[in-house]
Amino acid sequence: MIKLRMPLLLLAVIPLVAVSARAEPVSGYAYLTADMQAMQDDDFGNPGMLVVEAGERLFSRPGNNGKSCASCHGEGGETLDVRQLARYPIYSEALQRPVTLRGRILMCASDRLGGPPLDYASEEALALETFVRHLARGQPVEVDVSGPMAPYHAAGEKLFHTRYGQVDIACHQCHDYYAGKHFRGQVLTQGQSNGFPGYRFTEGHVVGLQERISECLTNLRAEPYAIGSDEYRDFEIYMSARSNGLTIETPAIRY
Ligand code: HEC
Ligand code: HEC
Repeated sequence: MIKLRMPLLLLAVIPLVAVSARAEPVSGYAYLTADMQAMQDDDFGNPGMLVVEAGERLFSRPGNNGKSCASCHGEGGETLDVRQLARYPIYSEALQRPVTLRGRILMCASDRLGGPPLDYASEEALALETFVRHLARGQPVEVDVSGPMAPYHAAGEKLFHTRYGQVDIACHQCHDYYAGKHFRGQVLTQGQSNGFPGYRFTEGHVVGLQERISECLTNLRAEPYAIGSDEYRDFEIYMSARSNGLTIETPAIRY
């Protein structure tokens, strides 16, 4: 019920509220209650840490060729470069296309563990992504969208400004113009990506950025794209660059 009523209520509000220009990026953390901030800050109280731990176990689980992620990247991923992790999605010269962090992990799983390949939307892929991105917690997001990334970034920006569903509102209308506005006891944030994969407090599970976008699209009564699709990759590129400079919080706690 709340899911359906929420956007309709906002529709009614939109023409009445003055439109402000896009501000500096602000993490969703800033909009949490003090209790929820404390929950995120305490690794023992943060339920997202269970998925980090599940990902860590998968990281040392042998694949078909007997190797594990840890065989090449060290116990607990200690030889992965956290600054580099904060730059994802990146452009791969070898593949001649952009690669998301989860996409990179899936390639290693199929090519370097000898399989079995993991589905982009699988729980295992999400857990591995959560674990790997957690290694970069505290690093500033630093996505480069110049050069060959520019057209993908532009495609993502266009999607972010597209009106969706029966509610007929674009992402940017809520997340650029109305961040900080209260309605139905909830605060609208800028929809930043720095906390993902993160723990959805109201849903009780961890979601990646693409799954979170699907939830907003569903609320707008639009058909979500497929997890791992080119559209979500472009969304992720645009939204990650939009979070540049914010600190990675994975696994964040979010409403
Ligand atoms: C046989 C060795 C090997 C195994 C096993 C392996 N990787 Fe990799 N991984 C690599 C190499 C080599 C690269 C760099 C490849 C490149 O940049 O093209 C890489 C790149 C990566 C990157 C990107 C790092 C960066 O700095 O951009 C991540 C993340 C990653 N691997 C995670 C994993 C995970 C998770 C697993 C297990 C599912 C795994 N890898 C298994 C060798 C391996
Ligand atoms: C009708 C308003 C509305 C529209 C339009 C909308 N969202 Fe949201 N979105 C919300 C609400 C409400 C939340 C939960 C509170 C928050 O984080 O803003 C949310 C949360 C998010 C979050 C999580 C932010 C965080 O830090 O937890 C992301 C990411 C997001 N939206 C992306 C999108 C994208 C991408 C689109 C377009 C496909 C979109 N949203 C369209 C209302 C909207």
